[in-house]
Amino acid sequence: MRAKAVILGIETSCDETSAAVMADGVLLSNIISSQIVHHQYGGVVPELASRAHQKYIIPIVEEALVKAGTAKAELSAVAVAMGPGLMGALLVGVNFGKALAYGLGVPFIGVNHMEAHIYSNFIDQPVPAFPCLNLTVSGGHTQLVLMRDDFSYELIGETRDDAAGEAFDKVAKMLGLGYPGGPRVDALAREGNPKAIHFPRTMLLDDEFAFSFSGIKTAVLYYLRDNNLRSSDGTPAIPPALLADLCASFQASVVDVLVRKTMNASKKFGIRQIAVGGGVSANSSLRSRMTAAAADAGCDVFFPKIEYCTDNAAMTSVVGYRKYLRGFSSPLSSSAMSNLDIAAA
Ligand code: KG4
Ligand code: ZN
Repeated sequence: MRAKAVILGIETSCDETSAAVMADGVLLSNIISSQIVHHQYGGVVPELASRAHQKYIIPIVEEALVKAGTAKAELSAVAVAMGPGLMGALLVGVNFGKALAYGLGVPFIGVNHMEAHIYSNFIDQPVPAFPCLNLTVSGGHTQLVLMRDDFSYELIGETRDDAAGEAFDKVAKMLGLGYPGGPRVDALAREGNPKAIHFPRTMLLDDEFAFSFSGIKTAVLYYLRDNNLRSSDGTPAIPPALLADLCASFQASVVDVLVRKTMNASKKFGIRQIAVGGGVSANSSLRSRMTAAAADAGCDVFFPKIEYCTDNAAMTSVVGYRKYLRGFSSPLSSSAMSNLDIAAA
């Protein structure tokens, strides 16, 4: 039987060019091209990201359609991440998506990248029920968002400085682990002792649900300086066992804060469905600690499959699908917005 709602999702907000096809809520393809050009610079170079998206957008979309066995003419709508993200990177996906939707005469559906991270928990069954509390932890954001219904977002807390993923990446850089650092810190932390070094847990008592990770990052920097763990040219010189302990101890402090604040919010708002999303939701310690804390409190906790944690278009397509069913679409005059707010989604 022919599918009623076939959605092409497109994601180009940072350094992943991705396209996905979802038909009647079933994900048929999710192609992701991660730009390795940035690794030599130790972080994402915006201009290079835009250029790489330009190069890959058509082949990636073609591949997603071929893998799904879907012809362009079968598409019901095109859903694209509009922001937040790097402006030049977003523009590639947004303009391509608008042109394709216009050419096919189908709706164009703008998606907030952070709402897409939240909906990465809605790709496969079982999905969270509303009301639900979302912890979204990525390279650019750390947010606690309360949802009482589909597409209703109440931001109850976010970071005042570095995002959790950014802290992982900056600490990894200090430790000489390269970019992106989160997965490397996670892997090394498995060999280390999380109690070996005490790094601060910044709880910000003046604002219960705001986060701050810059203090933890600075504490790692001071630890390296005070213990002469940098060679004369500034590069780290850390014995392997201590490196593992540093990773485990830093990770424990970030995870502690994330779990405690999320569980406090769940208690305060009386919400027993908890969903975690964004690149840092791939972290093995965050997964195990949050799962244990939620079980103790009698809450259900959801994590996306690992391939839907970091940026991908599957999460864009599921938002597009659910918006399409409700008859939502965006005007072709709408534009990418680098600072798009979750509350404006
Ligand atoms: O969601 P994402 O792909 O991009 C943004 O929207 O920012 O998140 C990327 C972030 C990076 O900071 C990366 O280091 C972090 O997610 N990350 C992790 C892990 N995997 C990715 N952080 C900790 N542990 C991981 N296993
Ligand atoms: Zn993201």
